Amino acid sequence: MTYVLGIETSCDETAAAVVKDGLEIVSNIVASQAKIHEMYGGVFPEIASRQHIVHVVPVLEQALAQAGLSLDQIDAVAVTYGPGLAGSLLVGVNMAKGLSFAAGLPLIGINHLEAHIYANWLDTEEEILFPVVCLIASGGHTNLVLMTDHGQYQPLGQTLDDAAGEAFDKVARLLGLGYPGGPEIQRVAEAGSPESIDLPRAWLRGTSDFSFSGLKTAVLYLIRDYEPADDLPVADLAASFQWAVVEVLVEKTRIAAEESGARQVLLAGGVAANALLRAQMAERITIPVLCPAPALCTDNAACVSAVGWFKLQEGERAAWDLDVIPGLSLVPPENG
Ligand code: KG4
Ligand code: ZN
Repeated sequence: MTYVLGIETSCDETAAAVVKDGLEIVSNIVASQAKIHEMYGGVFPEIASRQHIVHVVPVLEQALAQAGLSLDQIDAVAVTYGPGLAGSLLVGVNMAKGLSFAAGLPLIGINHLEAHIYANWLDTEEEILFPVVCLIASGGHTNLVLMTDHGQYQPLGQTLDDAAGEAFDKVARLLGLGYPGGPEIQRVAEAGSPESIDLPRAWLRGTSDFSFSGLKTAVLYLIRDYEPADDLPVADLAASFQWAVVEVLVEKTRIAAEESGARQVLLAGGVAANALLRAQMAERITIPVLCPAPALCTDNAACVSAVGWFKLQEGERAAWDLDVIPGLSLVPPENG
């Protein structure tokens, strides 16, 4: 039995978790700062760092308490070192170094995007069969990658401008909804009709790339020019916008899966919590589509522990000079 303690502070969630043997969640604590950032319509970096400093120790205490374990029963510490906000990442990395130094535990640096993918291994009966096509759709990223084995990724495509989650957040703000925008748009869209307002889709045919800024701008102009402004059809706009994003994500993932000969599709990142996206992926893609439970799609530390366990088996250890890399990519440019 191997217990990996995971720490995640890359954006606006302070999270700690304990995972047994890479697959079984023993504890999973997430302290979200969303309510604090709501008034800014997005994450305010300095406030995020300061909130991590305030919450990181209580969150770790809770993660150990919920697991019923003390630090000397933990086998390794895994921590997100990028991509993300530098000041936020620093809090988690420094905490992890302190813990690992004090308790004499191996330290493992984790790529946040890889952590999102590995949420698919947690608390599930499903067996993952390589090669798989992964769609990572979060607030900062929208990537399609072919994963041929543990830790082996070939980039297929990515967003050329806004990330899918970023588009949800920005459009939610334009519609006067709360932050984060994804769950808000999903909620409001239930009362709207997805076919009611014709919005553009950037298909970028022949590539697995995405673009969401034109869609966002189309919504912006529609709202700006709508008369009377008080009668703005918020639910119809939310539903039509959500449908436009989902349709592109599903269709491009379907084609990538077909062309790459993947055996399964894995969904990852906060946008993968979207109910319409999950339903449409399952309906339109013929090979199995796996997705983590919604709470494991958004930022958490259990998925950091999961990758940490696989890396621990491979003998990977971070040196004491581990530093944060805000722009870390899933595939180093020289391999991609
Ligand atoms: O993965 P995540 O928690 O953080 C990042 O790594 O960015 O993703 C957060 C993003 C936000 O943009 C949020 O609006 C979006 O995921 N999101 C959703 C849903 N839940 C979260 N987007 C669409 N539908 C949802 N239900
Ligand atoms: Zn994330």
